[in-house]
Parts: sequence; structure tokens; C-alpha cells
Amino acid sequence: MVSYKELGLVNTKEMFKKAVDGGYAIPAYNFNNLEQIQAILQACVETKSPVILQVSSGARKYANSTLLRNLAKGAVEYVKELGYEIPIVLHLDHGDTFELCKDCIDNGFSSVMIDGSHHSYEDNIKLTKKVVEYAHAHDVTVEGELGVLAGVEDDVVAEHSSYTKPEEVIDFVKRTGVDSLAISIGTSHGANKFKPEQCTKNAEGILVPPPLRFDILDEIEVKIPGFPIVLHGSSSVPQEMVKIINSNGGAIKNAVGIPEEQLRKAAKSAVCKINIDSDGRLAMTAAIRKVMAENPAEFDPRKYLGPARDALKILYMHKNDNVLGSSGKA
Ligand code: G3H
Ligand code: 13P
Ligand code: ZN
Repeated sequence: MVSYKELGLVNTKEMFKKAVDGGYAIPAYNFNNLEQIQAILQACVETKSPVILQVSSGARKYANSTLLRNLAKGAVEYVKELGYEIPIVLHLDHGDTFELCKDCIDNGFSSVMIDGSHHSYEDNIKLTKKVVEYAHAHDVTVEGELGVLAGVEDDVVAEHSSYTKPEEVIDFVKRTGVDSLAISIGTSHGANKFKPEQCTKNAEGILVPPPLRFDILDEIEVKIPGFPIVLHGSSSVPQEMVKIINSNGGAIKNAVGIPEEQLRKAAKSAVCKINIDSDGRLAMTAAIRKVMAENPAEFDPRKYLGPARDALKILYMHKNDNVLGSSGKA
């Protein structure tokens, strides 16, 4: 058993309270490897932003959970070395079973998500409550989810029926005891968040998606005022990155994300955690493809992973400064 407190990490309680009161959101960035965690920490130290380091079950499989945990442990010492201490949460992203959440809680995570959104309402409550009871006994915070985010592989994206139902949130929060709630108001995972036919085209021929359902967010805030709300699937899919990828051998089609000004608006509300992964993937891929195309003889991984890390850092600093509003809050 390794408590997150021994690792110098914090849970989300204090962080979320400050974010809701201050009208900004905490960045929740996924990491799977050394370069990603370096970029996240460098960007958050330079912008003086609190941060949530997210690990998915896919990341645990890819990188090994012991190594990832120790990277997070190293994170606390690394930020001290960088010269400015920021609060760091180690969070399980999209936990799908009690056993997975328990394993993370027992091994240094300070926060877990139990994503029961694909179960029936009652089963979601039962599973979430079970995780909350175990987590709270260890002072670990829990994120639950109500409403289903369309996956990138799904046939129908952000269908009406998958939005969070505001009439359920009071009951869900009360019966589960969750510390924060992920909701569905039109965001989705991946780089193809909307089908082209759902979008309009602007003067430059760029796809413009339909707006997020702020009316649902408003209704939820009326039901549970000040309760920490989480937005998943919040990448903006910068078109300049897609262009760099595609002009250097890539083939990413119909990529469309959530406009940054809508996320900025959400961050000023009770939305206090915004999850971004795909934009980081695009930034790294664009940088790597460019190096490879321009230097075909290069084979030192540091020569392409280094520029990828730098591009990622620039992206995250921009997010903290201009989208989440978390800069200067640590
Ligand atoms: O929401 C999913 C995150 O982007 C993590 O993705 O499961 O491929 O690691 P992954
Ligand atoms: P994106 O795919 O939009 O980056 O969303 C990431 C996410 O929600 C991680 O949980
Ligand atoms: Zn997610």
C-alpha cells in the first residue's frame, strides 16, 4: 500500500474549490511516457498552474503501472528542481471497475474516475458508490459520470439521448457521494468529434461544429450550485497541426474539435476540470512528422522526441494561459 500523501501528491478537493470560486478550470492532461510528463510539468511550472496528471487503463498497459506511478512520484521532486512547487494530482482516467480503482488507490493515486456511464442509471450509482466508499476511507477523491460521451468509433456522435439529464444530477450526487461529476454536453473523445454533415463550413472551408449545450450546463448548475463539473473530450483539434501532419505524410481526415472560446466560457462556470489528450497527440505527431520529413537520415529518438516534447509544452502553456485560465493559480 502506497499512499499518495507519501508521494507528495494532493487530492482534488482544495484544487476544485479554488477553481470553482475563481472561475477557471484545472488542466487534466494524459501521459503515457517520459516526454509527455516532462512537457506537462514544465508547462505547468512555467505558467504556475495546478495540474492533474491523468493515467488511463490503456496508459497503464502501455507503460507499466509501477513505472508510471514512479514517474508521478518523480514529478513532485522534479517541479521543486524546476524552481516552483505546484499542486499535483495523480488521477485514474476512465476507471471502469472497482478493482482497477482500488488498485490505483492502493498504489499512490490521489484521485480516481469511475466511469459507470455505460451502465444503467441504478448500476452506475451502485458501482460509483462502492468506489467512493473505498476511496474516501483513504482520502482519495472520486469523479463520476452521468450521460454518455460519444466515442470516436461510434456511428452516431453526441446524439441527444446521450446528454446528461439535469433532473438526475441531484439524486446521483447525493446517493453516490462523488466529489465531482463528468457531464455530457456535446464534447466527445478523439480528433473527429463531429461528422462533417453536423458542421457548417467557414470562409476558409474549415468545418465549424455545432455549439456545446450550455443550456444543459446551466440547468445542471442550478440543480447543484458550485458542485465541481468535469468536461471530457475537450480537445480543440488545431487545424494548423492537422495541416502539418497531412503535409508531411499523414492522413487525418475531417478532424474537428471544440472551439477554444467555448471551453474558455465553460471554464468560467462550475466546470473546474477539463480533459485534453488528443491535442497533445496531434502536437507530438506534427512535430515528429516534420522532423522525419526534413531529416530522413535521423534515427536518434531524442532528435524527434525532443521537438515533440517542446511542441507539447508550448501547447499546454497556451491552454493554461488562454483556455483554462489556470495560469498563476498555483
Ligand atoms: O479519454 C481517453 C483518453 O484520451 C485516454 O485515451 O485510453 O487511448 O489512453 P487511451
Ligand atoms: P480528447 O480526446 O478530446 O483530448 O479528450 C480526452 C479525455 O477526455 C480524456 O479523458
Ligand atoms: Zn475522457
